Amino acid sequence: MNLREATAEKHKIAEKMPFNQRMMQKQLSKLDYLNYINQHFEIFTAIEANDLPHPSLNRTQLITLDIEELQLELKAPNVVLNSTKLYVAYLQNLSYQDLLPHIYLNYLAVMFGGQIIKKVVPSTGNMYEFENMNEAASTIRVLQKDEWADEVNKGFDFNIAILEELELNSLSN
Ligand code: HEM
Repeated sequence: MNLREATAEKHKIAEKMPFNQRMMQKQLSKLDYLNYINQHFEIFTAIEANDLPHPSLNRTQLITLDIEELQLELKAPNVVLNSTKLYVAYLQNLSYQDLLPHIYLNYLAVMFGGQIIKKVVPSTGNMYEFENMNEAASTIRVLQKDEWADEVNKGFDFNIAILEELELNSLSN
């Protein structure tokens, strides 16, 4: 089974999480979306303490633009969820070789799913913009290995936990 097939079940679960379903139906408030990208900021900051396979993969500066746009309007604090702190702590303890499956997971998520998501979110969506997207994607594609399946599935579990906490957080707002 190739990597995409071996992780398809978790992808389906992630895609069907209530928070993502509401996102696809344009039902997220601006505050919901701000909280969502704040979690991405934390994850990408942890990953980008390391060099990436291609410079145009870097997300933190672009996410900052999206965060600033919403914060100017909402004047809301940056919320970092517990589930995000757990994933960040996990990422910070990985060797570069073990970080690579999480680079595959989080960057291709923004690159592929992101092109659909960009159209439905209450944001300019700078986070989903890539210069030389095909070239940047191919630097991940040449590295990816089918043996990454367990680690990628672990990364999906962390992401699913974050989506769960985002939904709970949204209900209590
Ligand atoms: C609203 C939620 C999501 C939608 C609509 C979505 C949609 C997509 C689409 C259309 C593709 C490309 C087509 C395909 O290969 O089937 C894709 C690929 C991918 N998505 Fe998602 N996705 C979502 C959530 C996520 C999440 C939460 C993650 C992980 C953090 C993720 C990780 C990936 C990865 C790693 C790929 C590339 C798979 C490969 O070709 O090797 N996606 N997604």
